[in-house]
Amino acid sequence: MKRYFVTTFGCQMNAHDSERIKGVLEDLGLGEAPSQADADVVVFNTCTIREKPDQRLAAHLGQAAALKRAEPDRIIAVGGCYAEAQRERIFEQYPFVDVAFGPGTIRHLADWLGAGGEGVPRGLFGTADERRFSAALPTRRERRVQAWVQVSMGCNSVCSYCIVPHVRGRELSRRPGEILAEVTRLAAEGVKEITLLGQNVNSWGRDLLPDIGTDFGELLRACDAVEGIARIRFTSPHPKDFRRPVIEAMAESRSVCEHTHLPLQSGSSRMLKRMRRTYSRERFVKLADDLRTAIPDLALTTDIIVGFPGETEADFRETLDVVEEIRFDGAFTFIYSPRHGTEAATMPDQVPEEVRHERLERLVDVVQRIAHERNQERIGRVEEVLVEGPSRTDPALLRGRTRRNTTVNFAGSAQPGDLVGVRIEAATSTTLRGSDAAAVAA
Ligand code: 5AD
Ligand code: SF4
Repeated sequence: MKRYFVTTFGCQMNAHDSERIKGVLEDLGLGEAPSQADADVVVFNTCTIREKPDQRLAAHLGQAAALKRAEPDRIIAVGGCYAEAQRERIFEQYPFVDVAFGPGTIRHLADWLGAGGEGVPRGLFGTADERRFSAALPTRRERRVQAWVQVSMGCNSVCSYCIVPHVRGRELSRRPGEILAEVTRLAAEGVKEITLLGQNVNSWGRDLLPDIGTDFGELLRACDAVEGIARIRFTSPHPKDFRRPVIEAMAESRSVCEHTHLPLQSGSSRMLKRMRRTYSRERFVKLADDLRTAIPDLALTTDIIVGFPGETEADFRETLDVVEEIRFDGAFTFIYSPRHGTEAATMPDQVPEEVRHERLERLVDVVQRIAHERNQERIGRVEEVLVEGPSRTDPALLRGRTRRNTTVNFAGSAQPGDLVGVRIEAATSTTLRGSDAAAVAA
């Protein structure tokens, strides 16, 4: 039997696409190899959001070149966002790559392999008509009790720093009937938690509106009604499209978890304007307030970029102010990275490297201090935890997540998929420690 190995970079969307890539390969009769060196088909599912993933890929492809030299029949495939950004150039940069495809053209890999590489072009990319929902493809799920469900592909925003609209194309919503059929099937397979995925979940359905008239809030309510699904998450919402009906649906749907990942990007309205985020600092703060008022105990996490072109010390301090004001439960923090083809890449006032780094360090200090304090507030409470498996650091403990999406390591005996009450005893900025509350009571 021929074997494959898939290496995944980037976001949850890519992690989910890799499940489809594996599903497609298994449909062709391939099995999973334990390592790249053991694989006949070596696949890279790439990301290009910042320069760092590009560099990591270059290192990986260097190793792949050596594997190819050792065994010239081995197939090297490159898919995902970097491939889409480079298109045919990928074969010039890396001549040993046999086949390439974009995030919307996963099926191409199967077509090319199925034809033995004969008569099918080496690369297929597409941000227009060639794109297909990967949800239509077979899947090899990585997680037993949790699943990703794609609700849309592409993005209609024009954030001036972001490459995603260039590589994932215009937004297309998946039809609600298809989404619900998938959620129902997952529930029947024993899945307890679903994460609805889209580049901007809150604009889901707008392109379908003329004929069926629906919005993301209604989709949340419909998923909540599916028997067996205990938890619903979604990522990412764009603050500009987070409207009242969605907040109400979150508040009123039992399974929708008390967590929202709400990307701030900057606390300076001047920067937000240059980033083309279309909300101000004040509107963002009000949205965070509205969400917390409607959903008591809501966890809020965010993404923040430092060193965007033209960012002054005063702009950066506004970001620190907003972080102090909102008190996020966690934040992904990034140094601005110019991406070829985006509007911001050619802005004249790029911030010097040292300044970007210094700001990142200051931001991380504040973010971690607050996250630590927020987690400390959980000590003494009993949180509902969905058990995922043994702890990664101490196999004597179990690992799971709270509804607020914090990882908990705890003492107890439960099976993956169980929902257990865990009494929280200790906290760091990113994880909680506890014990099975029932066991403690007994
Ligand atoms: N540079 C740095 N960070 C970026 N992000 C997107 N594009 C860039 C870029 N060019 C960040 C944003 C986004 C997250 C997924 O990545 O914060 O929300
Ligand atoms: Fe995900 Fe963006 Fe990276 Fe593509 S470029 S994998 S959409 S983070």
